[in-house]
Amino acid sequence: MGTLVNVEGRLVPPEQAFVPVLDRGFLYGDSVYEVVRTYAGRVFELGRHLDRMERTAARIGLLLPPRSRIESELFRTLDAAGNAESYARIIVTRGEGRFGLAPHLAEGLNRLVFLIRPLEPPPPELYDRGLQMAVTRMRRNPPQALDPALKTGNYLNSVLALRESHAAGADDALMLDLHGQVTEASTSNVFFVNAGGIVTPPLAVGMLEGVTRGLVIEVARGEGLPVREEPHGIEALAAADEVFVTSSLREVMAVTSLVILDGEKADRRAVAGGKPGPITRRLHAAFRRYVERTHLR
Ligand code: PDD
Repeated sequence: MGTLVNVEGRLVPPEQAFVPVLDRGFLYGDSVYEVVRTYAGRVFELGRHLDRMERTAARIGLLLPPRSRIESELFRTLDAAGNAESYARIIVTRGEGRFGLAPHLAEGLNRLVFLIRPLEPPPPELYDRGLQMAVTRMRRNPPQALDPALKTGNYLNSVLALRESHAAGADDALMLDLHGQVTEASTSNVFFVNAGGIVTPPLAVGMLEGVTRGLVIEVARGEGLPVREEPHGIEALAAADEVFVTSSLREVMAVTSLVILDGEKADRRAVAGGKPGPITRRLHAAFRRYVERTHLR
C-alpha cells in the first residue's frame, strides 16, 4: 500500500524513481499529463482524461504510447500500489533525444511515467468552510501564447499564481486574463451563481477544459439548472450569490471569500455571506449521485 512510481514499465518506490536529466520534460516542461482519481478502486472518467491527453499531445506534436498500453500500465501500477483509493498522475514526456531545444531532436520519442499515491480527498471541513481565493496579479497565459487548454508539464503560470495567493494567506489562486476576464483557478475551473442562473467562463477565454467542469454542466442541466457560458470580470464574481470551483480532486467546492490583489492593494471580500450556498451544495450532491451511478455500482 502506498506511493508507487512506474517509469517506463519499472515499478519502484518514489525514492528510486529517476528520469535522465536530458529528458525534455525535466529540461523544458516538454510533456503532457493528466491527474485522475479512483472511486471504489475504479478510475473515474479515464476515457475523457485520455481524450484530453491525446488532444494536448496532438497540438504540441508529441507522440503518445498507444492508449491500450497507457491503460494497462496504469491498471497494473494501481493494482501493485494496493490503495483503497488512489490519486494517479499519468505523464508522457518528449523523452531525451539529442541535446538542444528543437523538438525534432526527440522526434518520435517519449517517456511514460505514472505516480500513484493514496488519495487524500479534501477534508469535509473545507467543504463546510469553503475556499478563500486570491485573485492574483499574475494573469493567465493568453491562448495565443501558451494555451491554457493544453495540459502540459509547463505549469509555471499556475505555480507563480499559487505562490502569490499563499503569500496573501489564501488557499488558491483565481486568475484573470489580460483583459480582466475571469479564467480559472490554479488547478480547477470556476462557476458562479447569480439571480440569473449559473455562469461559467467560456473555454474561448483560455482555460483547461476540465472533465469535472463538463460533467457539472451536464449534471446541472439534469437538475433543471442550465449553465450559461459567458465571460465576466471579477466584479460579477465578487457580487455573486455563490461561487464554486470544480476539479477531479475537489469535485464541487464553494468559494466563500476573495482577496483581490491589485498593485499594493489587497481587497478582502466575503462571497455569498461567507458560507457555501444552496446551489453549490445541490450540485455537489448531484455530482456525487452521478459518481455513484457510473462508478460505484
Ligand atoms: N488539475 N484547470 C486547471 C489549470 C487544472 O490543472 C485542472 C486539473 C482543472 C480541472 O480539471 P479536471 O476537472 O479535469 O480535474 C482546471 C488537476 C487536478 C491537477 O493538475 O492536479
